[in-house]
Amino acid sequence: MDKAQSIRLKGLEISPPLLLAPMAGLTHSALRRLILEQGGIGLLSSEMLSAARLPSESPQLSPYLVRSPQETPLSYQLLVSREAEVAPAIAKLHTLGAEAIDLNLGCPAPTVRRMGAGSRLMEEPATVQGVVAAARRETGLPLTAKIRLGETLDEGKLRDFCRMLEGEGIDLLSVHARLRGEPFVRKPRWPWVGKIKGWLNIPVIANGGIFSVEDARNCLAQSGADGLMIGRAAAIHPSIFAELAHEVYNLGPEVGPVDRPALYLRFIELLEESFLPERRLGRLKEFTHYFAKNYPFGHRLASGVQSSGSLDQARERACAFFAKNEAGGADC
Ligand SMILES: Cc1cc2nc3c(=O)[nH]c(=O)nc-3n(C[C@H](O)[C@H](O)[C@H](O)COP(=O)(O)O)c2cc1C
Repeated sequence: MDKAQSIRLKGLEISPPLLLAPMAGLTHSALRRLILEQGGIGLLSSEMLSAARLPSESPQLSPYLVRSPQETPLSYQLLVSREAEVAPAIAKLHTLGAEAIDLNLGCPAPTVRRMGAGSRLMEEPATVQGVVAAARRETGLPLTAKIRLGETLDEGKLRDFCRMLEGEGIDLLSVHARLRGEPFVRKPRWPWVGKIKGWLNIPVIANGGIFSVEDARNCLAQSGADGLMIGRAAAIHPSIFAELAHEVYNLGPEVGPVDRPALYLRFIELLEESFLPERRLGRLKEFTHYFAKNYPFGHRLASGVQSSGSLDQARERACAFFAKNEAGGADC
């Protein structure tokens, strides 16, 4: 069967149905622009944003809120722990031009859970119900949620939770197909995304462990998902959305060979355009941790950049690495 090439949520068209996963430290303006330049992305995402702090953050000063006009459509993810945080946070997102709002119900990080947020909320459906109902009252924008599969594999509990989300007005659900405590090395449970899809009438998006066209095809075959959400692979090969758009959804041109040094240098340029000098190097280090996975000796690139004291030094070390590890050398 042909796969639907788009998802429509209220006034928003997500085409192709390929979504960038929210990732703290990574899905900032510079990476979003790099991905956009490669093509194939249906919906961009912010990093998770604390709903409690958001109302007092300055869009000019906060690195989490920096955004250029071409970054569209852009979903903002909220990390909420209490219903009272919802209205002021959503009011702020409206002033920022959000095109969709996502609720983080899946983050397993201990600091997030201690706040009573992220995956902790899946254990408190009554709180989530209040949060979602409040969010639905406050916005006419597409309202989405991102979950993991829960603490243990419990079909009844998961079904009730997902149906509750839909009942309260969630327009689309993204599922990171792992239990709360499962590490990334564990194979994601894509068929569980299919189970969830069978319980709901809203679009369900599969997330977790998609790094290639083959992974995407397998995930779709196992889950029947309405679309895919890509996280780490977006920082390893930012052109993955363009590849999937062409190969899986028959949209957009074929992607030719990727000039990886050029991509890396463009990312540095975008960091320079987007962030104050003191904010750039940390973000380059974070990105390089993933980008280095393109190379058999990538740990040398990662450690060279990691131990750099300035952006210029990191750029020089990366260029020296590319000169040795890329067949065509590097144009830098
Ligand atoms: C560095 C990093 C930061 C992340 N930050 C967030 C976040 O802010 N919000 C969220 O819902 N998930 C976050 N995640 C989880 C991803 O959105 C995604 O669910 C996970 O990486 C699995 O997808 P992948 O295999 O395509 O990377 C993060 C993951 C990573 C690796």
